[in-house]
Amino acid sequence: MRRRRDSGIEIKNTPQLLRMRRAGLVVARALTVMEDAVTVGMTTAEVDAIAVEVLAEAGATSSFLGYAPGGVAPYPAVTCVSVDDEVVHGIPSSERVLADGDLLSIDFGALLDGYHGDAARTVEIGAVSPEAHRLVADTHEALWAGIAAARLGSRIGDISAAVEESLRSHDTRYGIVKEFTGHGIGTAMHQEPSIPNYGRAGRGPVIRTGMALAIEPMVTLGTNRVAILDDDWTVVTTDGSWAAHWEHTITVTDRGVWVLTAEDGGEELLGRHGIPFGPLAD
Ligand code: MF3
Ligand code: CO
Repeated sequence: MRRRRDSGIEIKNTPQLLRMRRAGLVVARALTVMEDAVTVGMTTAEVDAIAVEVLAEAGATSSFLGYAPGGVAPYPAVTCVSVDDEVVHGIPSSERVLADGDLLSIDFGALLDGYHGDAARTVEIGAVSPEAHRLVADTHEALWAGIAAARLGSRIGDISAAVEESLRSHDTRYGIVKEFTGHGIGTAMHQEPSIPNYGRAGRGPVIRTGMALAIEPMVTLGTNRVAILDDDWTVVTTDGSWAAHWEHTITVTDRGVWVLTAEDGGEELLGRHGIPFGPLAD
């Protein structure tokens, strides 16, 4: 009889989590600099160029540039910039000019001192439609509902169920993308476990000290079906409906949740959810 194998999820010790926090802070800073800079008329290539600078200043490298899972074309940029009906993995382009009313999802990953941080935000360009605005807000809320469900001894399925339940609590019938999920993260950007944005509470691996998890709802105003463009990367909705994407890298300590890719470690929004804030000290 074989013993059941350990789940294969990478466990970090305190010094390693502190390194992940430093990578996460680079990600947070880059996203904030990009968010503050984006305006109508800017190209998505210009957004990417900002992130290249932040990486250089921080002495970090890109988690995305050259990434080539399963023999696809290596990813050619340091950000994913997905506009409107592009859900994730949009490739920056000097031809793609941002227009008033667009939704821009910026996804960014940094590698510092051996550890990755990964986060994403959806930014409104100028004045977006009320539906698009609600999509952005409700996807953000679903991310934090997922984060708030992560605690020691609970399960990955509790995060998934919380994200789904949050999205189902609105009048709008959102599409929840199933082909892409959140993921474990650490010495590699994508690790076990996979963290779907739908599912049943009480299922999946138990959440333990030292795990780092990227939670990332990808949500549409229409279908949950997606297609990949022939650039090998850009994921679009099959019905042209617009999408939002929010992501954070988190860990759960003995004290509470620590959002590694939030400038404040998640203190404010965790507080609003009544969840203990659990940073580790140097
Ligand atoms: N950051 C994405 C994720 O959230 C993955 C980016 S794919 C890459 O998992 F090719 F750009 F790296
Ligand atoms: Co991710």
